[in-house]
Amino acid sequence: MKVLAVASEIYPLVKTGGLADVVGALPAALAAEGVETRTLVPGYPAVLAALDASEAILALDLFGRPGQLRAARAGALELFVIDAPDLYGRGGNIYSGPDGWDWPDNAFRFAALGQVAARIGAGEIAGFVPDVVHAHDWQAALAPAYLHYGGGRRPGTVVTIHNLAFQGQFPPSLVGPLGFPPAAYAMDGLEYYGSLGFLKAGLRFADRITTVSPTYAREIAAPGGGMGFDGLLRSRRADLSGILNGLDTEVWNPATDRRLAATYDATRLPLRHLNKQEVQRRLGLRQNSFALLFGVVTRLTWQKGMDLLAQMLDALPDGSQLALLGAGEPALEQAFAAAAAARPGEIGVHLGYDETLAHLMQGGCDALLVPSRFEPCGLTQLCALRYGAIPVVARVGGLADTVIDANPMALAANVATGLQFAPNDPGALRYAVARAAELFRERSAWSAMQRNAMAASVGWQAPAARYAELYRSVVRRD
Ligand code: ADP
Ligand code: GLC
Repeated sequence: MKVLAVASEIYPLVKTGGLADVVGALPAALAAEGVETRTLVPGYPAVLAALDASEAILALDLFGRPGQLRAARAGALELFVIDAPDLYGRGGNIYSGPDGWDWPDNAFRFAALGQVAARIGAGEIAGFVPDVVHAHDWQAALAPAYLHYGGGRRPGTVVTIHNLAFQGQFPPSLVGPLGFPPAAYAMDGLEYYGSLGFLKAGLRFADRITTVSPTYAREIAAPGGGMGFDGLLRSRRADLSGILNGLDTEVWNPATDRRLAATYDATRLPLRHLNKQEVQRRLGLRQNSFALLFGVVTRLTWQKGMDLLAQMLDALPDGSQLALLGAGEPALEQAFAAAAAARPGEIGVHLGYDETLAHLMQGGCDALLVPSRFEPCGLTQLCALRYGAIPVVARVGGLADTVIDANPMALAANVATGLQFAPNDPGALRYAVARAAELFRERSAWSAMQRNAMAASVGWQAPAARYAELYRSVVRRD
């Protein structure tokens, strides 16, 4: 079976969040299921620079901008790359300009992704005629719509929602310029509350809709959780499912991870303290192996509940420390920088994106805080499980599905892997960190929990089998 994956990011070439990790890791896991994946991505400078080999296979006219489709390889990834400098040849963030606002031509940049995906899906590239087109998030979500209105060969189609907060809404006046017939702008087509909706189009026209955890699949189909889409998602409930993300367990392996100061496994947990020392050193925290070290690795946004965390810093348990690695909203960056300045040695903050430090923190922090308001899946808590940093998470979305709370029953049965709290407010978060501190004092219970966490299944094998089954269910036999 051949699958064309379509996405705006792919690890390790270009990444702003977990989407890239998923798109980068899934192909290898799917190969074990007999699925051959090629991924279509925009040719940003970072992508073009990372290609090991590439060949132009099709000249493109992308709404009046010239381009070329390249078949390419980067490491083990088999790619199609849209090489179109007018759309993608610019520095900085892939979604926004230096002023922090979305690039003004994002509608064209990502419609091009969907349109080229549809052309490959329709069979234009003789060497790779996909059985299924799998579009990730709004940037790729026009692919099923272009296939629908194109009227040619129809592969099976799947749209995966990684984050419903990002919907891709643009002025309706773009319907024609993006190559759709005027009649497509209707409730039963591309229209979404008076806008042209990219994700809306994908959710309307895909054969199947998935999201990245079973709990998030339920949350978004409920009033209040659907960010405007719950009605549409309820009407498509039979086609909507949640498949948990996995981790690339080679990239995230504490036994071999070169980014750690000391590698370790579940039988050599005491070695983690060397990583803890290094985290303390890098973040200017007091060297103290007895202090409970909380870590945070995140985008600094409202979604991630970082304002809640900022509000309860005074209530961190006595003798504990906080190490935070994050980048995002300027007000939050300032709040955490100010907290670190006010409490040196106790709160350490590194503002920015730093993969090495992210690994080191998972390998050295005692606990990882994830107080998200909503979380489609979340990968950082999976990394934390694998590295034995006890996740302390809000009971939402994929966080609820992947962490087993240390309630008395779970502790007695020795199956706990972390702590959950609800509702997500500063009070419940404060209570959760106090509970963590109490458990941390019982060293043997804490290490038992670490061993459970490290034994949890967080790889791609099981999720990949579910995707393969889903693909088989949408393959057309006509
Ligand atoms: P989201 O995609 O919503 O940001 P996920 O938990 O799914 O959340 O994925 C986040 C990914 O980005 C993880 O791989 C995490 O390690 C990484 N990450 C987030 N913030 C940073 C940062 N400041 N530095 C390094 N890695 C980060
Ligand atoms: C999104 C979500 C995150 C998820 C990631 C990969 O960025 O916010 O929860 O893990 O996509 O699916």
